[in-house]
Amino acid sequence: MENGQIVNVSNLVKHFPMGGDHFVALKGIDLTFATGEFTGLVGPSGSGKTTLLNLIGGLDSPTEGDVSVLGMQLSGSSHGARAELRRSSMGFIFQTYNLLPVYSVYENVEFPLLLNNVPADERKKLVTQAIEWVGLTDKMKSRPAALSGGEGQRTAIARAIVKEPTLVLADEPTANLDAENSHHVMKILVRLNKELSTSFIFATHDEKVMGYLRRILNLVDGKIVKDEIVENPEFKG
Ligand SMILES: Nc1ncnc2c1ncn2[C@@H]1O[C@H](COP(=O)(O)OP(=O)(O)OP(=O)(O)O)[C@@H](O)[C@H]1O
Ligand SMILES: [Mg+2]
Repeated sequence: MENGQIVNVSNLVKHFPMGGDHFVALKGIDLTFATGEFTGLVGPSGSGKTTLLNLIGGLDSPTEGDVSVLGMQLSGSSHGARAELRRSSMGFIFQTYNLLPVYSVYENVEFPLLLNNVPADERKKLVTQAIEWVGLTDKMKSRPAALSGGEGQRTAIARAIVKEPTLVLADEPTANLDAENSHHVMKILVRLNKELSTSFIFATHDEKVMGYLRRILNLVDGKIVKDEIVENPEFKG
């Protein structure tokens, strides 16, 4: 893998079983992502955005082709090695945010740091800061069931960024947020991208999210039909 590349996708094909047959969700994708990208996969519902993100995250296996993340070839690696890569270097914001229901906001956000054996003092600082970033300081002790949809999503975002990962995969991160919170969250993510060079790959329908992206990949029917760099005012200066 060349220097500065964070993800390389080559000839990626994904079939899903359907009845006695199969459905072809990705039809041969070739892509390279550089360190520090702020890129979105956009396209109609069912075009393969979530499928592609899941393959990049090593959460699912391709039918053909390969994905390398941070120099590690995912298909040649063990389940444990992929889990280790996610634990150490990746943050996920899922379309359904998968919060742990018996834990508070604080504990949900703290969870990735416990997995990484971050010392208590450092944990407290990072968790408090991430929760403050997403504006949930007053809900720190609440459990997910007591949160609104948007608050749940902001908790998931804090959990994804708390360990300051190298790569964040974000599937519709603003789906449950109102306009003000969407912009607030996107500005936080832009700041992380600028200050820590965290790379982001989004899947989104949201025009508000698109307004922050620097590269837009258009997916239609399991194929990339357009790959464009966009000038974005959020990134000036
Ligand atoms: N586990 C599965 N089994 C069978 N088909 C699947 C499975 N997961 C996804 N698909 C199909 O693959 C296609 C791509 O799905 P995917 O979830 O990647 O779309 P998407 O672009 O993320 O859509 P959306 O914008 O609605 O989230 C869809 O037609 C979907 O029905
Ligand atoms: Mg999706």
